[in-house]
Amino acid sequence: MQTILTKKYGLIHTGKKIGGGNLRDCYSIANKPGLCIKIVKSELSLARKLQAFFFHKNTNIEEYRLYTTIPEQIRPYFNPVIEAEKAYMLTEMPRNYDGSYALPVKSHGKISNQVFWQHVNNLFNFFEENELWLFDVLNGNNMFVRKDSDTDWRPVIIDYKRIGWKAFPWQVYLAFKWGRKKKLRRRYRKFQKKYSGFFL
Ligand SMILES: Nc1ncnc2c1ncn2[C@@H]1O[C@H](COP(=O)(O)OP(=O)(O)OP(=O)(O)O)[C@@H](O)[C@H]1O
Ligand SMILES: [Mg+2]
Repeated sequence: MQTILTKKYGLIHTGKKIGGGNLRDCYSIANKPGLCIKIVKSELSLARKLQAFFFHKNTNIEEYRLYTTIPEQIRPYFNPVIEAEKAYMLTEMPRNYDGSYALPVKSHGKISNQVFWQHVNNLFNFFEENELWLFDVLNGNNMFVRKDSDTDWRPVIIDYKRIGWKAFPWQVYLAFKWGRKKKLRRRYRKFQKKYSGFFL
């Protein structure tokens, strides 16, 4: 258990580990159902350390800034950040209409919900038209499925820290717009192929 001093809630205590990514671990918070806290890992691999040092010094703060600047048309797809500091980020845990917690796309396997894929398509089109290069959003761990009813499912992105060439400094073609466009399209195709119950 870790104790962290937050601005909004004062001292909070971490609970169960909910998930882990390359840079951050995510924990529930004692007595605060529906919220979680992401903490930057202290043990990172060398590659991740370099990446964090050069490109993600302030991952949580960058993500928070991005949330506040995301265009209104697509903002509902992004999970709100409540508070961010260098070492932690407070955020919500998306819930389904029945009160249960939403799950990552990955744990759904193939998704055969038309409304969900329409939303994903809207999101992809918006990214492309507005040159928002959030490649990592089209990923089974970073996108959750929130069920607003039995039939209305929608994507909720819980990790959107990476933008543009910063994410992949070793792929030189991403310095160019055509390269980023190509990468976004490839990611989208791969994502559909992996998780859509309709496209195969
Ligand atoms: N808001 C949330 N609600 C529920 N689970 C979450 C939430 N945020 C993160 N998680 C869980 O914690 C994991 C790690 O969080 P996150 O993806 O933000 O970490 P990261 O290290 O930045 O990721 P990456 O490996 O993509 O760089 C997620 O894959 C997810 O399982
Ligand atoms: Mg992630």
